[in-house]
Amino acid sequence: MQNPQRYLVTSALPYASGITHFGNVVGSTLPADLYARYCRLRGRDTLYVCGSDEHGVAITIAAEKEGITPREIIDRYHGLNKQALANAGIAFDVYDRTSNPVHYDTAQEFFRYWLGKGLLVEREEDQFFDADANMFLPDRYVEGICPNCGYDKARGDQCDNCGAYYNQLDLKHPRSLVSGKAPVVRKTKHWYFKLDEFQQWTEQYVESHASEWKSNVLQQSRSWLKQGLAARAATRDMSWGIPVPAPNADGKVIYVWFEAVLGYISATKQWAKDRGIDAAWKRWWCDADTEYIAFLGKDNIVFHTIIFPILLHTRESEGYILPAQIPANEFLNLEGQKFSKSRNWAIDLVQFQKDFPEPQHADVLLSLIHISE
Ligand code: 2FM
Ligand code: ZN
Repeated sequence: MQNPQRYLVTSALPYASGITHFGNVVGSTLPADLYARYCRLRGRDTLYVCGSDEHGVAITIAAEKEGITPREIIDRYHGLNKQALANAGIAFDVYDRTSNPVHYDTAQEFFRYWLGKGLLVEREEDQFFDADANMFLPDRYVEGICPNCGYDKARGDQCDNCGAYYNQLDLKHPRSLVSGKAPVVRKTKHWYFKLDEFQQWTEQYVESHASEWKSNVLQQSRSWLKQGLAARAATRDMSWGIPVPAPNADGKVIYVWFEAVLGYISATKQWAKDRGIDAAWKRWWCDADTEYIAFLGKDNIVFHTIIFPILLHTRESEGYILPAQIPANEFLNLEGQKFSKSRNWAIDLVQFQKDFPEPQHADVLLSLIHISE
């Protein structure tokens, strides 16, 4: 954009299922902070928005492992992460959470809008089911071999190795993380979002930024579009999450990826509310003079270059804007080697700050860390 009047900066909302991953700080929250600081120094009207992603299987699995409730998990890690990020000198304008009722209202309002526009269709389809645990197995509750690259710890919704995002039934040799056994297949009803209707629009959107976006961002988006967009389930069988606002939807919640991205908008609403200027959030999200830059890590690319823009585009008539720039970084290396918790080659932000509380140590540590090319 030629002369934006304001700059909206977001960084991917870390899951409040544990201490925020160092890769997330270095690849997303920190570069976004640098950019927001740069904008402020230039005298630009700037808002830096982030917060905790508090739904989805990442949270329920963490809670089950510790034998506590999802609510206890998110309350603990939202607080710890908020404090640790502040200690690291990251200056958010708002660090909100997706359990905020403002976010429930926003996500359910979007969902109802899509229902009204016929963008969500109800369908019964096969899903993995754990017969021992008597539950459906959304997303990370199943692991298997990636149908795209052969990685053997691919999750039910997405492969951490190649970024592919598929239907769980395509996973090879699936196994339930609850019982450890091979799941059976059962029918269940879900609401499918007609992403396929936006194929051409999305291609145009992505290509209109071809000269500005990083090559990793462009490549992943193009390869996804090449496979063709298909309708995706926007709901899940779970009790933890935002209830589906539709008739006969007991036990169904909105799929975390169809609401977490809207968390950037809800957080901005909360920011405005806290200042007694409730309507001001619209200046940031529904005004063509706002330049929106979304920072994230490589595993979040297609959700921000394809899904989120489609969701925003559905409300174009109300002025919702799209990300102009989507800088995504690759995975993090420590002294040249990939981070790995299981190989004990990882740094926990909170532990690090306990051992080295002086602020200058944060800068020293960051100089040891490299994003892989
Ligand atoms: O990958 C993650 O950690 C997700 N919690 C990122 C969500 S970004 C946005 F959707 F909120
Ligand atoms: Zn893969």
